[in-house]
Amino acid sequence: MSKTLVIYFSHEGENYNVGTVEVGNTELLAKEIVAKTSADEFKIVPENNYPGTYQETIEVASAEQKSSARPKYIGDVDITNYDTIFFGYPIWWEDLPMVVYSFIEKHNFSGKVVMPFNTHEGSGNAGTNETLKSLMPGAILKGDGFNMTGSIARTEEGIKKINNWLDGLREFIV
Ligand SMILES: Cc1cc2nc3c(=O)[nH]c(=O)nc-3n(C[C@H](O)[C@H](O)[C@H](O)COP(=O)(O)O)c2cc1C
Repeated sequence: MSKTLVIYFSHEGENYNVGTVEVGNTELLAKEIVAKTSADEFKIVPENNYPGTYQETIEVASAEQKSSARPKYIGDVDITNYDTIFFGYPIWWEDLPMVVYSFIEKHNFSGKVVMPFNTHEGSGNAGTNETLKSLMPGAILKGDGFNMTGSIARTEEGIKKINNWLDGLREFIV
């Protein structure tokens, strides 16, 4: 069994700059990491999934952020079995999506090597690497909060970039 786990949230449907997609931008990166590391994976899927249209999704996400909602998600994963965790998410309203907070708050990342990655459309990691540091006390964060424009994640250039990032982290992949 692998000691490396890829955890991610990603939204399929209509999204900014990419039209309507069956596989989200962050998920494409997550799948590339899984393919290149043979890691296990867990996708955070909200019980009430987000609407198909971009406009509706940003409205729901904004309301959730304003109320500090903690949306429930389907299933779970026992992270105690893993030493190294890739942690992927899109930037939503300059922050982690609220369902990502739901996941983090239910788990203890202390002692784990955590390598955050995200996609966005201009905000970079929007300070979320720092947010993760405070939400995951005792975790050892590596990889400098890797971030990529979502539409680039769908191109060969994006896949090349995530592989370059991965290559620099090989010593932590177990
Ligand atoms: C609800 C919502 C809020 C977003 N807020 C931001 C933002 O604040 N900054 C930004 O750069 N991109 C923002 N985006 C764009 C996404 O971060 C970007 O499209 C990302 O690649 C989506 O990843 P996914 O396909 O894995 O869900 C937002 C998108 C959505 C749906």
